[in-house]
Amino acid sequence: MTVSPGPFGAFASSRPELSDRDFGRVANIARSAYGIQLEPQKKAMIQSRLTKRLRARGLADFSAYCALLETRGNDEQDHFISAITTNVTHFYREVHHFKQLQTEVLPPLVERARGGGRVRLWSAGCSTGPEPYSLAGSILKLFPEAGRKDIRILATDLDRDVLAKAEAATYDADQCDTPGPEWAAQVFEPSRGGGPRRIRREVAGLVSFQPVNLNGTWPMTGRFDVIMCRNVAIYFSREVQQKLWLRFAEVLAPGGHLFIGHSERLSGPATSVFEPCGITAYRKRA
Ligand SMILES: C[S@@+](CC[C@H](N)C(=O)[O-])C[C@H]1O[C@@H](n2cnc3c(N)ncnc32)[C@H](O)[C@@H]1O
Repeated sequence: MTVSPGPFGAFASSRPELSDRDFGRVANIARSAYGIQLEPQKKAMIQSRLTKRLRARGLADFSAYCALLETRGNDEQDHFISAITTNVTHFYREVHHFKQLQTEVLPPLVERARGGGRVRLWSAGCSTGPEPYSLAGSILKLFPEAGRKDIRILATDLDRDVLAKAEAATYDADQCDTPGPEWAAQVFEPSRGGGPRRIRREVAGLVSFQPVNLNGTWPMTGRFDVIMCRNVAIYFSREVQQKLWLRFAEVLAPGGHLFIGHSERLSGPATSVFEPCGITAYRKRA
């Protein structure tokens, strides 16, 4: 830590330096525990985000912070991952996926649920919730009685802070942008002025949130009909991505759909398990 003289004498600077060695330690934890790849060019951003964690823990430097992170059995890894991940999301993001869902993918699934069958969708890396709530709004648009049938959405993320926000089901006005008012009506209670907006009760009722590390053990049993994992794998190495695509294939029903983010692509062995069926949309071969 550097000491700089100020108008009232010398104070400890509030900018601890992240050395290359400690950046390597941080990057190692991100990769081994979560599959997240931290490129060297992200060092300044990581330093800035983790400086807040040093302060919260009352630690003087990154070397002490790394030692804490490397110690088993403390909760700092949860805060660490929350600090380094990007949670940008919005309602009906990449709306072409929701159009494809509403016109092609959901109608046969809704018919199955209507007839008493089981339907499961998974929003993997759901951040603060707009993605699973957009899925639920899409289902209810086609099938207003969905809540009385066996059709449910699992929404998971490794960051417990974003899951708490998602479960609160209330969003500030600036987080409520949608591609148009007809889309907004699918998910939100009617607006009363410009304040926070609540998710419709029927929409929230279709979604269950759960912490899951995509690069850890998955607690779910049973197959999914749709998996949305968008703008998440972009943070993983190619090797980790390729393993993830195969794991998704294992938990998808034959003919099930996988939607990934606009800058992501399937690669590796999964390309023979899936066939493309839209923009960054894939169908598991039957
Ligand atoms: C940019 S947001 C994407 C949110 C949403 N899918 C969308 O496209 O709008 C990425 C999310 O992935 C989560 N994430 C990153 N690595 C993860 C992992 N290994 N397991 C589960 N979630 C992860 C982050 O916590 C973050 O909330």
